[in-house]
Amino acid sequence: MLNRVKKLPANFVWGGATAAYQVEGSTQVDGKGKTMWDDYLKAQGRFSPDPASDFYNRYPEDIKLAKQYGLNAIRVSIAWTRIFPKGYGEVNQKGVAFYHRLFKECLDNNVEPYVTLHHFDSPKTLFDDGDWLNRKNIDYFVDYAKFCFKEFPEVNNWFTINELISLATSQYIGGNFPPNHHFDVTSAIQAEHNELLAHARVVNLYREMQLPGRIGLIHVLQPIYPITETPENKHAAALYDAFLNRFLLDGTFLGHYTTETMALINEILEKNNAKLDIQPGDMDILAKAAPQNDYFGLNYYQSQFIQAYEGESTNQFNGTGEKGTSSFKFKGVGEIVKKPGVPQTDWDWNIYPEGLYDVLKRVARVYPNSKTIYITENGLGFKDHYEGPDQIIDDQPRIDYIDQHLEAILKARSEGVNVQGYFVWSLQDQFSWANGYNKRYGLFYVDFDTQKREIKESARWFKELADTK
Ligand code: BG6
Repeated sequence: MLNRVKKLPANFVWGGATAAYQVEGSTQVDGKGKTMWDDYLKAQGRFSPDPASDFYNRYPEDIKLAKQYGLNAIRVSIAWTRIFPKGYGEVNQKGVAFYHRLFKECLDNNVEPYVTLHHFDSPKTLFDDGDWLNRKNIDYFVDYAKFCFKEFPEVNNWFTINELISLATSQYIGGNFPPNHHFDVTSAIQAEHNELLAHARVVNLYREMQLPGRIGLIHVLQPIYPITETPENKHAAALYDAFLNRFLLDGTFLGHYTTETMALINEILEKNNAKLDIQPGDMDILAKAAPQNDYFGLNYYQSQFIQAYEGESTNQFNGTGEKGTSSFKFKGVGEIVKKPGVPQTDWDWNIYPEGLYDVLKRVARVYPNSKTIYITENGLGFKDHYEGPDQIIDDQPRIDYIDQHLEAILKARSEGVNVQGYFVWSLQDQFSWANGYNKRYGLFYVDFDTQKREIKESARWFKELADTK
């Protein structure tokens, strides 16, 4: 069945990714506190975060499946509100015990856990107080991280925050995550800066604690290309790239925002009457942390093509999988357009593996502090066709997608980019934050009515590749 990629490198980390809120379910049990999602999803009425993939109860089955199908690693996240129901204060021992059980199960099966501290699930109490816009949130996050580092010595691979940009832009630009603001540029850029500070403070803490493991963070990178090479379109691409990628990469791995980056960011801020508040001491924190990251988790799904746009900002989100229903126009930055010849998913995401190759080369060239790179998410959202128990689930488009992206990764690696692993998004089917249960990504199909797991063809192919290591 092997296709383009015939062989994985020896010792390659070969994993599947999950996120606590998207898989665990059991949102109201064992003392868990509310996240920013619980009341919001209930009021919205589109779908429920329970039972999700019932990972809270079925994690042993999922980890055994992972092992059986050749995976040697798993990305999980800790739900902050299982440990601190309010985000701070009293510890919930039942939540702590759950994660000890989970990590033990992983280690007993030789499936190495890579653990994220924050994956989009801000505690409701802190969310109501401003979430990452409130600098007090950073202190609470540092306290929570410190608790986890002491409590879980069995974890050797940590990530602080998942996809700072997705959280900030979904909350304050696209408006499809609570609190659903549209083009609130001040909040978006401030949340990004504050999350970078939180990450940096936790990295500095980790080093002070002299812990033996590794720590880093996860950025999703979206290469931005001008739709045609006019000076206006090239400038639009540079602006949007600064907003989505460069500001965060600079802050993380250079420890400062370069003059060129800030010129682009300031242009966006000015055009949108927005501002960024950097306080005395902030840049020292970033500068200290930048060389101390042990590795970099890079998520990649798609690249974007852009043309210049000076009109008012508007957007439409495709949350249903009805092709061609999304649009995005950002005042003074650009308009996302479709590039002829580039295929798209049902959710209008460009399938463009060249972008992953380009961005890997760029990160290695411009940001050597990224050191070792793991692809911590990559995969295809797809409406899998399920005909009943034990029937073949043929997800060839997913196999093709992963295969093409792996080929791009291995090409970059053969040219010296230090990529040491790949985590498919996702291990098993799980709901999608703004799309619900019909956008599936898993290697393992989850029948959300019965919670029965079925093996997709992509899982068999993944195993075949695992055996080539
Ligand atoms: C990443 C997130 O942004 O993309 C995941 O880390 C998410 O949590 C994944 O599910 C796919 O996005 P979506 O919107 O298709 O679920």
